[in-house]
Amino acid sequence: MRRPLIAGNWKMNLKRDEAVDLARGVGAAAGDGEVDVLVCPTFVHLDSVFSAVSDSKVAVGGQDVYFEGNGAFTGETSTEMLKDLGCEFVILGHSERRNVIGECDKLINQKLHAALAAGLKPILCVGELLEERESGKTMEVVQSQMDGSLEGVSADQMAEVVVAYEPVWAIGTGKTASPEQAQEVHADLRTLLATRYNQEVADGVRILYGGSVKPANAAELMACPDIDGALVGGAALKADSFAAIIEAAGA
Ligand code: 13P
Repeated sequence: MRRPLIAGNWKMNLKRDEAVDLARGVGAAAGDGEVDVLVCPTFVHLDSVFSAVSDSKVAVGGQDVYFEGNGAFTGETSTEMLKDLGCEFVILGHSERRNVIGECDKLINQKLHAALAAGLKPILCVGELLEERESGKTMEVVQSQMDGSLEGVSADQMAEVVVAYEPVWAIGTGKTASPEQAQEVHADLRTLLATRYNQEVADGVRILYGGSVKPANAAELMACPDIDGALVGGAALKADSFAAIIEAAGA
């Protein structure tokens, strides 16, 4: 039985006081039900957010990490730095890093190995562009992202990985994939994991949906058999809407 995970990706938003307020609100809303709750603030707010959620069950994660251990890598953050603060998760391969910053599968794969070696749980994001969906290439694209990003990852290691399907055309656009569209890709991703590893791994890996998840559509998405939670952007920036999504996942 896969435990739902509701993760808030705060992206490059909020000032420190706002991040702390939001974290407190999420902490209060998280309760101790059957849903894992995670927030991923920007690096500079990690420490403050940790303090704000310390008496709750909310986990804190990074939005990215670099694969080298330490050294002359200006602007980067290491796995050890995230672990040292207490991070449990790290988002990798987000579409904004792929499509805005220009990250490729090889780099994401290096980061994923570094995260696993440090004991961080990677949330590996995959998803197609609108033109790729419209030309019927969705599965080809996500399969190639999975293959490239997971190269050399063993079945045991895969048990620590969370996958997030985020169709790029649904991110920040208000356009959500329908439950049918999302479920179809999630089921295909699970089949892909069964082929690549085995059925036990496929049955155990949590696959989150992301892309304009909001209180109004969360329940129908979470009701799909292969959707195990959500990676939420905009609606994670308000405690009440994020709380409603957590509630939808626990229903
Ligand atoms: P939105 O929920 O704002 O569409 O963002 C989704 C996302 O990119 C989460 O990582």
